[in-house]
Parts: sequence; C-alpha cells; structure tokens
Amino acid sequence: MFTKAIVRKPAETFINGITTSNLGKPDINLALRQHDNYCEALIKCGLDITILDADPNFPDSCFVEDTAVVTKNFGIITRPGDPRRLGEEVEIKKVLEPMLKLYAIEEPGTLDGGDIMQADNKFYIGLSERTNPEGAKQLSNILSEHNYDPISVKVKDILHFKTGINYIGENNLLVQKRFYDLPELANYNKTIIAPEEEYAANSLRINDYVLVPKGFPKTLASIQKLSYKTIELDLSEYQKMDGGLSCLSLRF
Ligand code: GLY
Repeated sequence: MFTKAIVRKPAETFINGITTSNLGKPDINLALRQHDNYCEALIKCGLDITILDADPNFPDSCFVEDTAVVTKNFGIITRPGDPRRLGEEVEIKKVLEPMLKLYAIEEPGTLDGGDIMQADNKFYIGLSERTNPEGAKQLSNILSEHNYDPISVKVKDILHFKTGINYIGENNLLVQKRFYDLPELANYNKTIIAPEEEYAANSLRINDYVLVPKGFPKTLASIQKLSYKTIELDLSEYQKMDGGLSCLSLRF
C-alpha cells in the first residue's frame, strides 16, 4: 500500500520543456486543471500528497518521478540524464530527507526514475538515453543491499522504460509490443497495448485503483477485464510534453 505522494505543479515555462511528441504546445491553464484532477485522484486512492510549488527554472520539473526512486523505507536521489533537467533533484532531496533514508546516484552515473519499474521484489532498470550503465550499476548495488532484485533491460526508440510498460500488480504487466518478448518478462501475465493506444501503457496502479489516461478505450476495457477499479484522467497537455501518469508523482 502507498500512503504518500509528492507532486509538483507545472510552471508557466512548461511549454519550453523537452518533447519529441509533435502534438503542439501545451495550454498551461488546462495543464494546471489536469494536475488538480490528478491530485484529487491520488487523494481518492488514499494518499497524503505534498504539492510542491512550480519551479519556472525547470520546465520539466512537474515530472517528479524522474528525480528519485522511492520505497517505503529508503529513496535514491537520481542524476537526471538530460542536462536540461540536472538540478531538479536538489529540491526533491530536501523534501524527501525528513521522510526517508536517502542515497544518491553519483557522477558519471545518470538515471531517470521513469526508467525504473518495480514489480514486487524486482526492480527493472531500463538502460535508455537517460539512464546509463553506471547509473544502473549504482542503483543495483543500493537495491541489492536492501534485498531487492535489480534487473537491467535495454530500452531503444522510446523515452523511458515505463513509457512502454507498467506493472499493475498480481503479476499483470501492460506492455507495448516492443517489450512483449523480453525474456526477462517471460513469467508475467502480459496485456499487449493496441498500437493506436501506446500512450496508455503508462497506466498506474495505486492501491485499489488503476489510473488510466483518458481516451484509450481498449486499454481501459482490458484493465477492467482484469477486475481492477479504474480512474480515467485527461492528460492531453502532459502527453504533449512526453509525460504520463507515473512521471507526475513519487509514491511510497
Ligand atoms: N519532457 C519529459 C522529459 O523529456 O524528460
């Protein structure tokens, strides 16, 4: 069970963030309303949320998940892999310090939290353009000390590992086709995401609910068929900036 979450509001500079989506510029007012709805959903899932003020110096800083990897007992402050996001982690460290024992990814390691997928006792670490082998090695060492099982996988042609895959509990994975045949994932019950709904691979289990981005009916139906209660959230403005449901919070 998760009990807490940290989120950060998008800043006016959000429109200048990093994106490859070609979906146009986000509307900051709509993004703020969508963020409010996201926070309400986290509260409905039973979480106490800490809402950090927007930081205009970092246009991507609402995507807090990339700045830390957290468990109930400890956290790892990351070193974001795109230089434009380096520094976002400083504020997150201050917020987490009173709550959790903390470690940090050190130079030359880089790591984005969006590349890290926990599935019960396993942590899958996506080696992407953001997360390098040194970052993965440092994270693996910390996780192993705490008796978790770290497994590195290669990620290509996609921003983060969790852009294309998510664990929703009870051995169930939502996967884009690109990850379907990964041998490391052979033992899971896999729901393949329809090609036209790839964004919905980033659906997010929180306690009794699975949060699903709005507008992806096939994925929604597949998740409901697995007997999960769902909450749909419109994330159009975050999709424009290559962000999804998991990126918008740290949950522990
Ligand atoms: N816009 C999110 C990222 O590139 O990290």
